[in-house]
Amino acid sequence: MAIDRVDAYIDAHRADFVEQLKALIRIPSVSAQPDHNADTHRAAEFIRDDLAAMGLQAELIATKGHPIVFAQNPPRPGLPTLLIYGHYDVQPPEPLEPWISPPFEPTERDGNLYARGATDDKGQMFTHLKAAEAWLKGAGELPLNVKFLIEGEEEVGGANLEQFVADNQTKLACDYAVISDSSQFAPGMPAITYGLKGLAYFEILVQGARVDLHSGTFGGAVANPCNALAEILASLKGSDGKIQLPGFYDSVKPLEDWERAEFAKLPFSEAEFQASTGVPSLEGESGYTTLERKWARPTCDVNGIYGGYQGPGPKTVLPCKAGAKFSFRLVPDQDPATVAEQLRAHLKAVCPPGVTYELIVHHGAPAVLVGVDSPGVRAAVRAVEVGFGKAPVFIREGGSIPVVGLLKDQLGVDTLLLGWGQNDDNLHGPNEKFSLADFQNGIKASAHLFEELVKEGDRSKPAGP
Ligand code: BES
Ligand code: MN
Ligand code: MN
Repeated sequence: MAIDRVDAYIDAHRADFVEQLKALIRIPSVSAQPDHNADTHRAAEFIRDDLAAMGLQAELIATKGHPIVFAQNPPRPGLPTLLIYGHYDVQPPEPLEPWISPPFEPTERDGNLYARGATDDKGQMFTHLKAAEAWLKGAGELPLNVKFLIEGEEEVGGANLEQFVADNQTKLACDYAVISDSSQFAPGMPAITYGLKGLAYFEILVQGARVDLHSGTFGGAVANPCNALAEILASLKGSDGKIQLPGFYDSVKPLEDWERAEFAKLPFSEAEFQASTGVPSLEGESGYTTLERKWARPTCDVNGIYGGYQGPGPKTVLPCKAGAKFSFRLVPDQDPATVAEQLRAHLKAVCPPGVTYELIVHHGAPAVLVGVDSPGVRAAVRAVEVGFGKAPVFIREGGSIPVVGLLKDQLGVDTLLLGWGQNDDNLHGPNEKFSLADFQNGIKASAHLFEELVKEGDRSKPAGP
């Protein structure tokens, strides 16, 4: 049978696939850093060339920012169409000091591949490319219509993909969509993710006097922007973990009883989770467990804070400005634009006298929930079971993948979120890793997903002979 030849191809090419992934990872495609624009472009070309080499029609599509890679097989009518999304850009590797091996020199240790982008998202995305290759080279053709959409601005919340999806609904039309850019529940416990959080990201600049002043001569009489900023940031969240913006919880979809029951059944140890982070205790919104807080309740975090004297030794200065980056993780059915309005009203009310401020709205994405009972999910359950040797559990996650909302709104498609990573993969941090076993299992699961989706058929056609 064709699928046996596909499995054999995957087994036979295990080492080649790892070498190819290493070559992709060596390209430092840091989308946020303009110094790396040429590298980012090179990563897009690498993906396009790999897709073309396996026999797909592959193109690089220019945007105002980093290019989009699109590829497909010549469409065959009567077969379902699967859209595969991934991103070839990575987060900045800084700070470099904690890295055990250099971020862009992929290094194998204990069955893991360590490098920036190993799990987020080069390694996970590459599983689908190699699954397609295994079908094309091992069995001669793909069992369904496949479209690859691989972008280079996911990590910077780029608006260019949104425009591209809106402008290309026919090109992207599909019956199913799949993304591997999230995590399993635990090692040996693969998962299907049915919910992701949204994001509303802001920056505030607080201004006091015209220039920095002597804190003895002026302190106590002239407002200090650092003090004011601390007051403003402290006002965002109460000690009960509730966010204080008026109206913030109005549109929050409560956790369903079945979800709370299912989360509680998962083998999760709060003590082990705490120990894995090194914090002296866990905290969060009162009335919710850690998994509920992480997966299904909105949060607010300061992501960076600046102002005043940062050099060695003391300096008695009354700084004239301060700033912070902070963000809210949103849940269904919150709207990022509404949260921005609520924040504006809150800032007006709480900003202490003697300073002015400017609010920058960086980017936003709504949260998503996808159905857990659909032909696509049934096919995915079977495919993950074959690839990983274990049936997946159903989870939500706290991260955001903006394209999922776009695919739902613009194409009417629910995405299958099949994360192959692990929670301790250190994505965005130093010593990011991806398990080479998960890489291999992910390729197998993807190859079987193609087959299982064909069995479920074309979503748009009525059931029957
Ligand atoms: N792959 C992550 C999203 C993710 C992480 C999903 C962990 C599930 C678990 C993605 O690359 C990412 O980092 N997204 C950003 C959002 C973006 C708008 C910058 C995020 O979640 O911070
Ligand atoms: Mn990602
Ligand atoms: Mn990321």
